[in-house]
Amino acid sequence: MSEYELDPLPYEYDALEPHISEQVLTWHHDTHHQGYVNGWNSAEETLEANRESGDVSSSAGAIRDVTHNSSGHILHDLFWQNMSPEGGDEPSGALAAAIQEDFGSYDAWKAEFEAAAKDASGWALLVYDSFSNQLRNVVVDGHDNGAIWGGHPILALDVWEHSYYHDYGPARGDFIDAFFEVVDWEEPADRYEHAVELFE
Ligand SMILES: [Fe+2]
Repeated sequence: MSEYELDPLPYEYDALEPHISEQVLTWHHDTHHQGYVNGWNSAEETLEANRESGDVSSSAGAIRDVTHNSSGHILHDLFWQNMSPEGGDEPSGALAAAIQEDFGSYDAWKAEFEAAAKDASGWALLVYDSFSNQLRNVVVDGHDNGAIWGGHPILALDVWEHSYYHDYGPARGDFIDAFFEVVDWEEPADRYEHAVELFE
């Protein structure tokens, strides 16, 4: 059985200052994200043990734990990758064209994404919906409540309180503005092109 591991951040803990503090990135990556990795491994061990023993009385709970913790792990990986100290630009290339096509303009997409981020109890995601072959914004509560089947995350913004409260208090809108100062579209553009290749 595979064991999931936490990758290091793709930059230093203080690299996104002043937009996201070294303290928040340290807690967020080393404690919160690590917790999802540990939770995923632990739930997989429970499922494996139950399969061997034949006692499945705790398996439904462990399946829920896999969904919650794997979603947390995957989305945090995307979140770290779609920010960088060199970020703050707008998308280009095929992803920019698709945003224009599916939302009317970058500004219209951004206004909708920000509304999602202000309302979510978890994450705002830009996803490629492989069922209808278009981009969509998604409001996610927790790590998976609101997920769309066939939706492949392209851009992730974590709006759990652990993501911003230490830096911004209740001013979540200021944190969302700060995210756009460090957003890096290089990884999302690659993910988009890969998703289109797979599903169109
Ligand atoms: Fe988080």
